[in-house]
Amino acid sequence: MARLIRIFDTTLRDGEQSPGASMNIEEKVLVAKQLARLNVDIIEAGFAFSSPGDFEAITRIGQEVEGPVICSLARAKPEDIDRAWEALKGAPKRRIHTFLSTSDIHLKHQFRMTRDEARIRAVEMVQHARSYVDDVEFSPMDATRSDLSYLCEVVEAVIEAGAGTVNIPDTVGYTTPQEFGNIIRTLRERVRNCDKAIISVHCHNDLGLAVGNSMAAIYAGAGQVECTINGIGERAGNASLEEIAMGLRTRKDFYDADTQILTEEISKSSRLVSKITGMVVQPNKAIVGANAFAHTSGIHQDGLLKEKNTYEIMQPESIGLTHSRLVMGKLSGRHAFREELQKLGYTLSDQEVNEAFDRFKRLADQKKELFEEDLEAIVSEAAIRVPERYVLKGLSVKSGVGQEPTATVELEVEGAIVQKSGTGDGPVDAVYRVIAGLTQTKSQLKAYIVKAITGGTDAQGEVSVRVEENGEMVTGHGSNTDIIVASAYAYLNALNKLTSLMERHARAEQKVPLC
Ligand code: KIV
Ligand code: ZN
Repeated sequence: MARLIRIFDTTLRDGEQSPGASMNIEEKVLVAKQLARLNVDIIEAGFAFSSPGDFEAITRIGQEVEGPVICSLARAKPEDIDRAWEALKGAPKRRIHTFLSTSDIHLKHQFRMTRDEARIRAVEMVQHARSYVDDVEFSPMDATRSDLSYLCEVVEAVIEAGAGTVNIPDTVGYTTPQEFGNIIRTLRERVRNCDKAIISVHCHNDLGLAVGNSMAAIYAGAGQVECTINGIGERAGNASLEEIAMGLRTRKDFYDADTQILTEEISKSSRLVSKITGMVVQPNKAIVGANAFAHTSGIHQDGLLKEKNTYEIMQPESIGLTHSRLVMGKLSGRHAFREELQKLGYTLSDQEVNEAFDRFKRLADQKKELFEEDLEAIVSEAAIRVPERYVLKGLSVKSGVGQEPTATVELEVEGAIVQKSGTGDGPVDAVYRVIAGLTQTKSQLKAYIVKAITGGTDAQGEVSVRVEENGEMVTGHGSNTDIIVASAYAYLNALNKLTSLMERHARAEQKVPLC
């Protein structure tokens, strides 16, 4: 039987460290629920000590998300581990993941510790974490640039102290598949008690080798892989979950290993994370890129028509890509709507169903046929709504050949109606300038991304924007059959998020750096 490889998803922790990918608590809960549907084994929900927001997200995910083990990161410090425990204690299945560097470069320049001091601290902190939970993971940070004999010593010591998982991070994305495979093999040969723990790997993609290195480690005996949806993460990102899961599923014959991932949920997970973080998936990205299953060459098409496996090593259906399924129309009722949502895997409260249904009715007036993706957009927007300081009440735009684009926007700002008109370089620019004036925002627009949710000229347009103020970056979303209206919704959603973030920060939130 194929060896089971555990999937430790760190989209909500390392993934969130991608520049501009920060998520609010509701968004994190939504992603965690989707990760549970994807059937990951462990969700690293955040770094409890780093901020009250991370703490609350871990607590909520621990209470609301069923299935996977919920994990918090903690530096090898008692106060971090105490905080991780506080956040996790309501979760039925919980893990504390503590870490300390083992490379001389880090120990000398950053931690100012000797090797012995670091080993002793690692052991003490694993023991401290074990006083709270049975499931403790330790990571020797920058393992791939550490002295291998010392690494073996630390791994042996932390297993002895009670770590059930030892994760070997390639923190700076420096290793190569052959070298990393050898490191894992050496650990398995030299560490006396290696069979008492699961060896995990955590690879960064600085040289584009994160997935290759992880696969080499699996081949060499690693039993857990840390990865993220769409490969998002610090700098060039982490190993991509979908590539590892599909790599193992497709080449089970070679690796003799597999995961418990429900691969049919991959496409939906990828879309959700991309939408929430505003990080667009490149079209040629393996597995989830728009072109990943598109065959354009005549020779390939000819072969495919004769026999699918001439040029197709995976079926699009295996990652949940089906022809857009027509689900509902204008006459569909609330009951059918709820049932469709359940089929898509969403269980909403009565109030959430009512709100989503109102939106559905408005959309059904504009668009005759509604597809699965339309319902997904409605539900995810309802679930990640933030308190709305600015509400769009009216919008009209004049633009065209030979006309100066002009927008008139009406907003409700804390109960008062305000209105203004202005011009811009294009209709969206005109709308954004007017909104900036009405809200008196000092933020800067960093990215504007537009895409069609389904095909056809009546398709909903989905707009994501990234907005920055005082070093805080947020992503806003809006969808509508009118792309200008979707753009206004997205911008206002970002400004509303920025306002609630600033308010939270004013209530003393400071993110703690990892080291
Ligand atoms: O890249 C890294 O080393 C990490 C650790 C905290 C596991 O993210
Ligand atoms: Zn990392």
